Amino acid sequence: MYKIAVIPGDGTGPEVVAEGLKVLKAASERYKFKYQLEHYDLGGERYLKTKETLPDSVLEELRQMDAIYLGAIGHPDVRPGILEQGILLKIRFQLDQYVNLRPVKLYPGVETPLKDKKPEDIDFVVVRENTEGAYGGAGGFFKRGTLDEIAIQEAIHTRKGVDRCIRFAFGYCRKRNQKNKVTLCGKTNVLTYAFNLWERVFYEVAEEFKGIKTDYAHVDATCMWMVKNPEWFDVIVTDNMFGDIITDLGAMIQGGMGIAAGGNINPKGVSMFEPIGGSAPKYTGMGVVSPLAAIAACQMMLDHLGEEEAAMGIEKGIMKVVEQNVKSLAAGKMGYTTSEVGDLLVEYILKE
Ligand code: IPM
Ligand code: MN
Repeated sequence: MYKIAVIPGDGTGPEVVAEGLKVLKAASERYKFKYQLEHYDLGGERYLKTKETLPDSVLEELRQMDAIYLGAIGHPDVRPGILEQGILLKIRFQLDQYVNLRPVKLYPGVETPLKDKKPEDIDFVVVRENTEGAYGGAGGFFKRGTLDEIAIQEAIHTRKGVDRCIRFAFGYCRKRNQKNKVTLCGKTNVLTYAFNLWERVFYEVAEEFKGIKTDYAHVDATCMWMVKNPEWFDVIVTDNMFGDIITDLGAMIQGGMGIAAGGNINPKGVSMFEPIGGSAPKYTGMGVVSPLAAIAACQMMLDHLGEEEAAMGIEKGIMKVVEQNVKSLAAGKMGYTTSEVGDLLVEYILKE
């Protein structure tokens, strides 16, 4: 019996999570596993009412779960940073979800803005460090509000943090068993301390993974190659900030925020799965956004929990829906409502 925390969150989060939960239920019937849901109303609305983001008591409850399923965090009436830091980043940090795993995979039938690129060209995974770097929150103001003001924002890279992330990337690459190549994405020519550490650890860890090829690309060049030659990549490992940036680019080349999902992974603890598109406030309640990213997040969650067959069943369902049904993944252009897409998935899973 899996205990799953559900945090629908803000904006379109609740409507896409509802579809993911429909799919979870269908998968549990088809593939015979049991689960129990615990809903949490964390997000902008709760914050506006109570000034609470993530109370310690809730955090303690989350620690007891087998997984967390998240919709989206971000509310137009709340100053940027409060909910992101107070909920999303706090969960990532406190539960030590040190890898953000973001597959970039173009399914047949999905449109990519990359001319001449086919599904076989776009299939890689980004392993983003998820607990340190520029996200550590170190820094401050000096003479704030004056003309002499100085703002300092430091990035923290620890050997332990870098090592465990790189190790995960190599392990994942071996398990994935495709091109057997890990690319370190950094900026060794400018960030000469941080990425010197990354580079040393990268080649040290690579020694332990015979048979896996290594490669290096600066982050700017990585952006270029992702557009020009995405077929070169298998697993990309990078720091928190670069990973944040290149995975938005990744989401676009795989068909957009309507399909991109990710997992915040603590291999020995509680992991959290989410569509990576954000709360999309302007579409809230309209039933026009694609739930496929949230459904793909559910797929990743089941895979992580060891329900590999169920995860594969969901992926097959997603592939059928994008190939046979939806016209586009863009909001309002699917030719179906959010909930109809969820229904199609359920139908395919039960028939599978
Ligand atoms: C993401 C998001 C978050 C991040 C924001 C909302 C803090 O952009 O999950 O990629 O920067 O990590
Ligand atoms: Mn991001």
